[in-house]
Amino acid sequence: MKSPMSLHTPIRINRVALGAALFAIASTLGAATCVVKSFAVTLPLEVIGADGYTVSVDVELPSADGKQLWMRANNLSYADKAQIQVNDQAWIGLNNQSADVKAAAKAYGGIGGGYNSLELTVPIAGTRAGQNTIRFRFSKTDGISAGYRVLAFNVLNAAGAPMIAENIFFNDEPANWQPPLNSANDIAAGESLWRTAVLRESSLANARNIQAKCADCHAQDGRDLHRFNYSNHSIVERTKFHGLSEQQGQQIASYIRSLTAKLGTPGPTCRPWNPPYQPGPGVDAGDISNWTCGAGLQFALDDDKDTLKYLFPNGVNAQSIAPQGAINLREIPIGLQLLDWKHWLPRIHPKDAWGDYFINHNLNKRYNGEGGGSENTPGLRARLQNGGNAYITGQSGDFWNDLYGWGVEWGERWAAPNGGDPGNPTIAQQELRYATAQWLAVKNWELAQEFNLETMCPEQYRARGSARVEPRSWCGHWRFVFDVSPHILKFPRGGPSMFASQAVTDYVANSWYQSHVLLNPGSKLHSVHLPTDWQYAYGLMNDLQSNSQRKEPLRRLLYIAKGTQEMDTAAGVRDVNRGWTSRDASPLDVWQGGSTGVWTGVPVDTMRAIVNGYLENWLIKSESFPEPDWQRIDGPGGSGWCGWSERRLCWRDYVPGTRRPGSDTIENFPTWTFRDIPKMRADGIDGALLNRYADLMHKFYPQGNYLSLKR
Ligand code: HEC
Repeated sequence: MKSPMSLHTPIRINRVALGAALFAIASTLGAATCVVKSFAVTLPLEVIGADGYTVSVDVELPSADGKQLWMRANNLSYADKAQIQVNDQAWIGLNNQSADVKAAAKAYGGIGGGYNSLELTVPIAGTRAGQNTIRFRFSKTDGISAGYRVLAFNVLNAAGAPMIAENIFFNDEPANWQPPLNSANDIAAGESLWRTAVLRESSLANARNIQAKCADCHAQDGRDLHRFNYSNHSIVERTKFHGLSEQQGQQIASYIRSLTAKLGTPGPTCRPWNPPYQPGPGVDAGDISNWTCGAGLQFALDDDKDTLKYLFPNGVNAQSIAPQGAINLREIPIGLQLLDWKHWLPRIHPKDAWGDYFINHNLNKRYNGEGGGSENTPGLRARLQNGGNAYITGQSGDFWNDLYGWGVEWGERWAAPNGGDPGNPTIAQQELRYATAQWLAVKNWELAQEFNLETMCPEQYRARGSARVEPRSWCGHWRFVFDVSPHILKFPRGGPSMFASQAVTDYVANSWYQSHVLLNPGSKLHSVHLPTDWQYAYGLMNDLQSNSQRKEPLRRLLYIAKGTQEMDTAAGVRDVNRGWTSRDASPLDVWQGGSTGVWTGVPVDTMRAIVNGYLENWLIKSESFPEPDWQRIDGPGGSGWCGWSERRLCWRDYVPGTRRPGSDTIENFPTWTFRDIPKMRADGIDGALLNRYADLMHKFYPQGNYLSLKR
């Protein structure tokens, strides 16, 4: 095929300098690959800047049939933040009424909801054959964000087919980025601004000055912006957002670019929209410094069912989910898009949230030795700097407990005067709490990156006697990431929330739980609910499902099966805190209503094969322990309360469905089992396995009438 490149007008992009360079790429490629269309568009479009900032692109359409604009975008964080215009038509604000958000993102609130990246279509008019101009505008800031990114777009005709030739789109290539000001002086000035410049909270007219510096909310040396490849443009605009000048922004951007000399070139998935640690194939094979960039958005599956082919590449089998196994969560894609880096970052730094209370609290002191806290500590940063790997693995010093102690300052010793009712925070108080939990997550990320913890934490686990070390992980037993969950922060259920709806709040909770198990499932050294509270997350999975109507049986299975692998330890059933517990590994949580419950939409045979496989594994393991070995609630240390979260067996003479003084509930594992075995049978779960299940429960509770459930 031979067709001359007809280069009419170069793309016009307001206020964004893309022109000439792009054009050169387009013509070279065009000559080599026979590109017919004339306009080149480099993606993403960064619609980031002052209120009203607009990116304009010219595209060629073969006809006037354009009916919809399709786009994939990152950070449409509130209604009408993004506006689009086709030629001279009226501007259209993107919100959940004007736009049709696709797939899973819609279930979690669409625009302004949980997912930070989403796909949508919006009806348009006024297209014409030939050249068309499409404008993307950032309407105005909400005091938090300075814009959004268009990751891809197209114009669809009445049949829903794309009209813009794919070969005009090019990806921006971070490897080609240059520092805007490449002198040693500018780079030094940039670093100094990063660490010390006094900032305004936002670009809102009435914004206050804040105590926090760039270095406080981000990684202290800015390596997060470097690792996730935030562009010069976004750094400059964000600097201006905080009240500094364009030139100062360029200096900071130059400093960030200069980090490549120290940190190397970030990997191909290191982009602002790819969620940190999003699991997917090949992640473990990559350089560990790029693990944080995740597998990429394309592995955040729209359909939870698609996890099947990764978890069971050779068809469903019990072996792949056996307690003795070692599921690699990092490599199996899930149907949940995790929060992106921008949504790890705190909107308000603890210094500005809590003032002197934070500055003089050990929460601050234990991080970097700063402030008037009572603890006599140089802080974790200095300890890591001075102690190195020997400190991390516990040969000299005690990083394990120092890290734990840092968490305790927040989780157990925090009582800020403006923190509000600990069990019922207002929205304003939620913002402060959530941001502080985020700050802890970000600073943990900073320590992990700077001190090579993702490599060294496995060594720490090994040094502590782990029987199976995750090849990469975070350290210790404090759940910094798990605990960013709004549920853990005690946002009132069904009450006012800083997030758009209960479904979004539940999504956020699930995203943090899931991120945590990717980072630190426990390396077979768990202690009750540390470092992962397995059963706790099941409840929030149920809540997310009922509030969003979106079902995730495979993510749930993966989570529970991984949990059983953590619980299969030498402690057996004599110590539920460190070993096997029937409740946290419960097959009921996997079945969960079966074909009409969480597995709705999954082929029934597949559901049955999975539940049967899981149940059989669970039975083999649970039957292997002699009955007297099982810890019971009336044994040593028992609570006498047989409730929903109880990990031990209840009284030997317990009858399911009954209450006792001091244990006024029937919501417990024995009652649920009694209730669900007949339902599972009706749902086609293997009858012989269910009989074994009844036999086992009879062994635990001889007066429980479980044998009546056998068929
Ligand atoms: C109070 C905490 C805080 C401070 C201080 C702070 N940031 Fe941020 N930064 C954030 C948050 C939160 C976001 C995510 C905003 C959003 O959701 O759009 C962010 C986003 C960014 C982004 C990405 C913007 C985008 O849309 O892609 C860049 C770049 C950035 N910050 C640079 C800086 C620089 C440079 C400074 C200092 C001049 C700074 N930040 C100071 C919290 C902070």
